[in-house]
Amino acid sequence: MPTLNDVTRGRLLYGGDYNPEQWPEEVWAEDVALMREAGVNLVTVGVFSWARLEPRPGERDFGWLDRVLDLLHAGGVGVCLATPTASPPPWLGARHPGTLPRDETGAVVWYGSRNHFCASSPVYREHALRITADLADRYGGHPALRLWHVNNEYGTVCRCDTTARHFRAWLRRRHGDLDALNEAWGTAFWSQRYGSWAEVLPPRRTQYLPNPAQSLDFHRFTSDALLECFTAERDALRSRTPHIPVTTNFMPLSAGQDGWAWAAEEDVVSVDLYPDPGGPDGAAYGALVQDLTRSQAHGPWLLTEQAAGAVNWRGVNQPKPEGLLRLWSLQAVARGADGICFFQWRQSRQGSEKFHSAMLPHAGPRSRLFGRVRELGAELGKLGGVTGTAVPARIAVLHDWHSWWATLQPGRPSDRFTQEQPLRAWHRALWELNLTCDLAHPEADLSGYALVAVPQLYLLTDAALDNLAGHVRGGGTLVCGFFTGVADADDRIRPGGMAARLREVLGIGLVHEWWPLAEGELQHLTPLGDGQSTAALWREDAETAGATTVAAYRGGELDGRPAVTRHSFGAGTAWYLTTLPDPAALRALLGRAAGEAGLRPPLPGLPAGVEAVRRGGLLFLLNHGRDPAAVPLPAPATDLLTGRRYGRRVPLARHGAAVLRTAPPGGGDGAYA
Ligand code: GLA
Repeated sequence: MPTLNDVTRGRLLYGGDYNPEQWPEEVWAEDVALMREAGVNLVTVGVFSWARLEPRPGERDFGWLDRVLDLLHAGGVGVCLATPTASPPPWLGARHPGTLPRDETGAVVWYGSRNHFCASSPVYREHALRITADLADRYGGHPALRLWHVNNEYGTVCRCDTTARHFRAWLRRRHGDLDALNEAWGTAFWSQRYGSWAEVLPPRRTQYLPNPAQSLDFHRFTSDALLECFTAERDALRSRTPHIPVTTNFMPLSAGQDGWAWAAEEDVVSVDLYPDPGGPDGAAYGALVQDLTRSQAHGPWLLTEQAAGAVNWRGVNQPKPEGLLRLWSLQAVARGADGICFFQWRQSRQGSEKFHSAMLPHAGPRSRLFGRVRELGAELGKLGGVTGTAVPARIAVLHDWHSWWATLQPGRPSDRFTQEQPLRAWHRALWELNLTCDLAHPEADLSGYALVAVPQLYLLTDAALDNLAGHVRGGGTLVCGFFTGVADADDRIRPGGMAARLREVLGIGLVHEWWPLAEGELQHLTPLGDGQSTAALWREDAETAGATTVAAYRGGELDGRPAVTRHSFGAGTAWYLTTLPDPAALRALLGRAAGEAGLRPPLPGLPAGVEAVRRGGLLFLLNHGRDPAAVPLPAPATDLLTGRRYGRRVPLARHGAAVLRTAPPGGGDGAYA
């Protein structure tokens, strides 16, 4: 199978979505000239071009796209060619209303925007495949073609009658007969028993709480139904161009699809990433999405979209302050990206994204923003040697979409969190400690990891429980967060409040009751680090059965009960957190567990706010703090971006970055190993 290496060919990819159909042809030559100036080497064309390519059913208008591809090729710009199937032309919905999705009330979701298709509609699928095949036939041999981009940010949900039939077929495959379905969905509750398959529906609007197991299966089904659309298009492309890799751009940290299952079907894993430049979490959130995407790819990945400045879909949309575009782009490269692309090349003058920034903004080529884009292109041009290289990590943070979906149900002990908040808090703590981590599926091979962290996985399969036990028994460290291992694969609560197998590993007896914390409610703990420790979101009244209490609740209903425990199991160690400690306490705890497991950051004495990541013999230093910083060095090193040589310390401006060559060419890894 072709890989990302076939696209990069030793250069970091740089570019963005290019929508020439929004512009008169005179502009195209200027586009290509400016792309060259900016160091652009890959653009994604045709993402939303279906209505232009097929103006009337069955007609084809490829002439304009021929000219675009030829122009790009002549300018030395490679093409990531998109199948336009995320936004069918209005004629498809008007002629075939069954291609349009329906919401939980049965209302049609109309054309006039985008993503208006029902993944189960055979008519949609047939039209999508036809235009895909025609594109591949026409452009499969074009010299500019480097990568296929299928659809765009899959995620549309439909609950129409066609979907209902498709859902039933999926359920038959998962559960077998109706008795098994009734059993798995717990339909003895509230008289929900199904007597025939025809009665079974996607979750639709109900009077009161819907059946959670039905909703969970519908999430699974929707992910699979959309994946069928992707793989059908991918196969149509592969059969015509087996040498060209195929991707589809994921939404970042999105609950929509099973990201593990999807990534396994792609040649290149890619993601869109839009951290909020105005918020406090942008860099930490970016690092999490990047680590997740690299882990999905099992190696280098592609940043398909980021914003050069502001987006237009938050309440208040702030641009990126000077230096931030460069800093966040280098962060992605540090964490495994082999390409940095944007939405979009030229800012649209019309349509609902005319206030979304672009590489070439309304202010034009003389704008400050385009200046930054040009500088970034030049700098990325110096980092080609990093392509294809790994990001070493000895920590795995477990993440699973099925468990996430199960925590999206109403009727839980607390609606103040889903899986996302504990995941973000734990990953942030590891990121602040400069302990690089992968993310992993709970049933994945964990043998390469010294420490496995489970921020919160409510649903764990029997195989996952065995996997965790095996990791600790074999000498690994497990740090496990609250409300984990509570349910089985059908969202059935396991006796004892947590799977017995996990309690054995953690040295925990019963989990007597869950005691969630209300908004603003403060729970004190015995200290976990320096100073006072507090906790938020959640508490559990859990009893130890072999584990040692490391920290206890102080005050409140659970005064004296265990908040954090530690247990020796087999040759390893298992920690359990019955709550979410405050950031400093969580950092102290994870730092301690990692230290005991022999894990250290890449450099000692890193100032707060400075991220340090190793990749491909390079050390990336990224200053996310509000102030300038200085990083002490154990040995002199050269910054690849500026050519500057540093002795004992590297000064970093606010939003500053340096990429140090830590190994002398041809030599060992020297003092930075
Ligand atoms: C997504 C889409 C793009 C564009 C951007 C705007 O990532 O894929 O087409 O709408 O959002 O941020």
